[in-house]
Amino acid sequence: MRLELQGLRLAYPGAGLATISDLDLVAEKGSLTALLGPSGSGKTTVMKLIAGHLSPDAGDIRLGDRSLLGLPPEKRRVAMVFQDPLLFPHLTLAGNVGFGLRLRGLPPARIAADVEAMLARVQLAGLGDRRPHQLSGGQQQRAALARALVLRPDLLLLDEPSVGVDPLSRRSPALTRASATRCAA
Ligand SMILES: Nc1ncnc2c1ncn2[C@@H]1O[C@H](COP(=O)(O)OP(=O)(O)OP(=O)(O)O)[C@@H](O)[C@H]1O
Ligand SMILES: [Mg+2]
Repeated sequence: MRLELQGLRLAYPGAGLATISDLDLVAEKGSLTALLGPSGSGKTTVMKLIAGHLSPDAGDIRLGDRSLLGLPPEKRRVAMVFQDPLLFPHLTLAGNVGFGLRLRGLPPARIAADVEAMLARVQLAGLGDRRPHQLSGGQQQRAALARALVLRPDLLLLDEPSVGVDPLSRRSPALTRASATRCAA
């Protein structure tokens, strides 16, 4: 879906200058958009605003034909994958990937099938019973990607999530498809 940021502004409380000011951006449906900028320039902040983890001081965030302002993160159909995979340590890999589907109340058989297909897509098939600490760093990052993709979001935000994924895996057709079909990053 088409993403549009209109005159977005955010000043963190206590910070002097606004971190984001008068930001306009359009990412067309089906496109891949990269935010580039030096460390501390506000890339993560912009993604948190879109995902709903922060509220802007001014401006609008539109996805398709609706404004996302006022909607909690879980109602936005936007998934964000952070650099730190943030997996739940007490859940298995399959439990982590299926977490959002369980919150949606889908039947267990459907969740199991979706999770299995997604684990295969990110090359983690057969590891579903492992806990996060039994996975490598790159495997944990792919698990975080799978957890986001399995929800079929309208928009996928990737905050440098492939830092720990080796170049060969990054180039594999499965992962290229997994990360190239969404709108903004
Ligand atoms: N919760 C916060 N409270 C106050 N200031 C913050 C907060 N989070 C981030 N900042 C500041 O806002 C600015 C933008 O941070 P942000 O994390 O968006 O940068 P970034 O472009 O993602 O950087 P990097 O490339 O290092 O990840 C930085 O100066 C940072 O110190
Ligand atoms: Mg950042």
